[in-house]
Amino acid sequence: MPLPERSGTLLIRGGTIQTAESALRADILVRDGIIAAIGDGLDTSGADVLDAGGLLVIPGGIDPHTHMEMPFMGEVSSDDFRTGTEAAVAGGTTMIIDFAIPEPGGSLIEAWRVWSERAKKAVCDYAFHVCVTHWSASVASEMETLVRDHGVNSFKHFMAYKGALMVDDGVLLSSVGHALSLGALCNVHAENGDAVAHLQKTLLERGITGPKGHPLSRPPSVEGEAAQRIIAIADVLGAPIYIVHVSTADATDAIGRARANGQRVFGEVLAQHLVIDDSVYDTDDFRSAAAHVMSPPFRPKSHQAKLWAGLANGTLQTTATDHCCFCAPQKANGRDDFTKIPNGTPGIEDRMSVLWHHGVRTGRLTPAEFVAVTSTNTAKIFNIHPRKGNVSVGADADLVLWDPNGTRTISAATHHQRVDYNVFEGMEVTGLARTTIAGGHVVWHENQLHTVPGSGRYVARPPFAPICFPHADTGAAG
Ligand code: URP
Ligand code: ZN
Ligand code: ZN
Ligand code: ZN
Repeated sequence: MPLPERSGTLLIRGGTIQTAESALRADILVRDGIIAAIGDGLDTSGADVLDAGGLLVIPGGIDPHTHMEMPFMGEVSSDDFRTGTEAAVAGGTTMIIDFAIPEPGGSLIEAWRVWSERAKKAVCDYAFHVCVTHWSASVASEMETLVRDHGVNSFKHFMAYKGALMVDDGVLLSSVGHALSLGALCNVHAENGDAVAHLQKTLLERGITGPKGHPLSRPPSVEGEAAQRIIAIADVLGAPIYIVHVSTADATDAIGRARANGQRVFGEVLAQHLVIDDSVYDTDDFRSAAAHVMSPPFRPKSHQAKLWAGLANGTLQTTATDHCCFCAPQKANGRDDFTKIPNGTPGIEDRMSVLWHHGVRTGRLTPAEFVAVTSTNTAKIFNIHPRKGNVSVGADADLVLWDPNGTRTISAATHHQRVDYNVFEGMEVTGLARTTIAGGHVVWHENQLHTVPGSGRYVARPPFAPICFPHADTGAAG
């Protein structure tokens, strides 16, 4: 079928709408970028028709954790907002939340402006978490301005990367407490940065300079300790907290215990950590091992069952990729010292397929849970639901015609990510995006991109997400 979009009105006919709640056989009428009607026998005169027979129609994926063109560890991540979002839509993701990172000691609002400028070439919608990397009265006041005037409702903190992005407990207490008063959610990279720096130093002193040193410098307890600490800090303050890229049983258990005690703790897991283990470091091929250097590192296989169970039982709510690409020449900066290998791996194009293949096809997740953990939960936590992560009248027409039986082989030779490797190389996956619709436009159809740079829009996110701040919309005292 040729690209059907001509008139601005689109009829998606014959598919099964799969949401986080239910599955329903119905047609969808899209007009002016919005879902205008759902049902059978819709008045569709003049509409272009997309045949969704045999396909599921799901909300476009939302990746809440990406790093496009990010300056980091002396390099700039190689996917920019155009190439990275093109890869996203090719894989069925129609919105990203990236991270705006201030210069050392610099302005948060300036960082938001810099990232806003870079993102102007995005081909799907986007938003920004803004990073708090130091503390002062001006940081506090800028957080307030970002929430009030710039549609920011989440702030990110690194407990690792000592000497660069890391913040200490004092900053965490100040920032998480202030965010609470603003109705904003704090995100945390939970690894004990002092422990990492200590282990890195002793490993280098022992002559361990290759990529094998990377996982040794960041054992699971380094993540488990930091997760428990930030959960305790959030508890002291009575604040919700969101832990990014949970990769261990240790951190998953900590989140589970806190949630069982009634704390509003949310956990994100990366597609990569769900299926790739630490055997990737067990090679003398520097290029291959360095390609897998990311933080937290890949873990012993035994952790994966806990992560999958966490997604299924609600301990972990979201899936992401931490998409952060560095090509081989960039990774080579750390040839003689693993601590200088730029950290990060690609993933944005393959998250949805990996989750369907290894989650739904294996029976670990239901199709409804797949939708919940790939879009709906993220939309709720970051307060853009029901506009996003949903198929309902009035919602943005960010939709994927998902082929639950379509098969493809993942490879850097065919992917759209601007990076020279793929951590899922050679993986045969079942479940793929046949057609992706972003903001009412067909942007991916029959293996072809139909994107327009700059067509993505900034999505302002209001504070006080009900799922994070349950008292806020009831008027009840906290
Ligand atoms: O290795 C990673 N994850 N790189 C990106 C920065 C971060 O920690 O999220
Ligand atoms: Zn991180
Ligand atoms: Zn990250
Ligand atoms: Zn209360």
